Amino acid sequence: MRKPDELVIETGGRFRVHASLYVDDDLFAKEMERIFARTWVYVAHESELPNPGDYRTSVIGTQPVIVARDQDGDVNVMFNRCMHRGATVCRADRGHSNYFRCQYHNWVYNSRGELQGMAQKSGYPDDFDRSELSLVRPAHVASYRGLIFANLDPAAEPLEERLAVVRRSIDAWCDRSPAGRIRVTRGTHRYRYPGNWKLQLENGVDGYHGNYVHESFTKILERSGERSRKDVTRARNDVGSLNYAKGLGRGDGMLERRAGMLGTADYSPYADYHRQLVEAHGRDRVEDILTQRNILVFPNLYLFESHIRVVRPVSTTETIVDNHPTVLEGAPAQLNTDRLREHERFFGPSSFGATDDLEIFVHVQTGAQATAAEWLEMSRGLHREQRNEFGEHVGHSTDEAPQRSIYREWRRLMTAEAEVPV
Ligand code: FES
Ligand SMILES: [Fe+2]
Repeated sequence: MRKPDELVIETGGRFRVHASLYVDDDLFAKEMERIFARTWVYVAHESELPNPGDYRTSVIGTQPVIVARDQDGDVNVMFNRCMHRGATVCRADRGHSNYFRCQYHNWVYNSRGELQGMAQKSGYPDDFDRSELSLVRPAHVASYRGLIFANLDPAAEPLEERLAVVRRSIDAWCDRSPAGRIRVTRGTHRYRYPGNWKLQLENGVDGYHGNYVHESFTKILERSGERSRKDVTRARNDVGSLNYAKGLGRGDGMLERRAGMLGTADYSPYADYHRQLVEAHGRDRVEDILTQRNILVFPNLYLFESHIRVVRPVSTTETIVDNHPTVLEGAPAQLNTDRLREHERFFGPSSFGATDDLEIFVHVQTGAQATAAEWLEMSRGLHREQRNEFGEHVGHSTDEAPQRSIYREWRRLMTAEAEVPV
């Protein structure tokens, strides 16, 4: 059995990962300990919990959590596991309640996870200490621009430090809103695929597959007279001043295009919106703000132009993905509607885009079973990528710089010597 540092190999101008990364159950268990229990993991957006008593359920890796706003207005993240005999105390995806009542024996907790009462309490002595039976919390919770993260590692670095490599891009993404605030108020579109979680991670920053996997979508655009395939291909392959695939470090990555990303609404008809952005954020920043980006924040968060995407590993061969369409606060209502319609057309349940990606994940998962064939190739563009002033690995938009960023961090975390937090 190879060790994790022997499964991601970068040597002689080649970058390769071993097929066992997608099929080995021991590696999956180790990923949950070494990656999801030691890094900042996205759990929810503040706008999903506007009022005291609002809650939603989420996960840190495979560990279920509740994210709840209490009566003081504070956001609490707690494991969704009763302190009695372990049942989940909240079964809904989201809702509003000041209490969580365990279905098994009726123990009741408040929005801070404090045990408020238990059924037939005469079965316990009068001095039984309830205060020790609050729902357990992750070691750290912090948020940045409304994005709430949790970290199980008591020795974790501060969130802002962790996000240093990707913060500029998160800011540009949030500042698409003239108010500088994104809202997650359009529900969730969830899908589940029979494949490893890293396939979704690789794919959202893969600028190489579009001409092939999404050929059917571009054919539809052409047949409807909306846009020619040649035009779409040219926009995608153009080596322009803003047409990149980037590996940012810490596993983060980005696909960045001035225009032409499939699944993005056309902002050009909204002159008022452009004026609003100039007023709110300054003329200098508008071009950067309107650059189209798919931003990966390792290990489980994607900021797409139209939605937040959260990757939820279930097992080695099963993954749930939550897509939360976003609203740009302060932007024209029609623009927000157009963004949602475009999101539905490319990413939605009956869309012509993301559904084709899922089909490919199944094929990769099947192919990866051939572990005897060993290595997968991720060298594309390695010979031509540049390092910019921010230390980013910058490649052509079809290069595999972001995928290499994912696996460099994967190798670093999987081989780190630090104690696994309990
Ligand atoms: S497991 Fe929750 S009350 Fe018994
Ligand atoms: Fe795709």
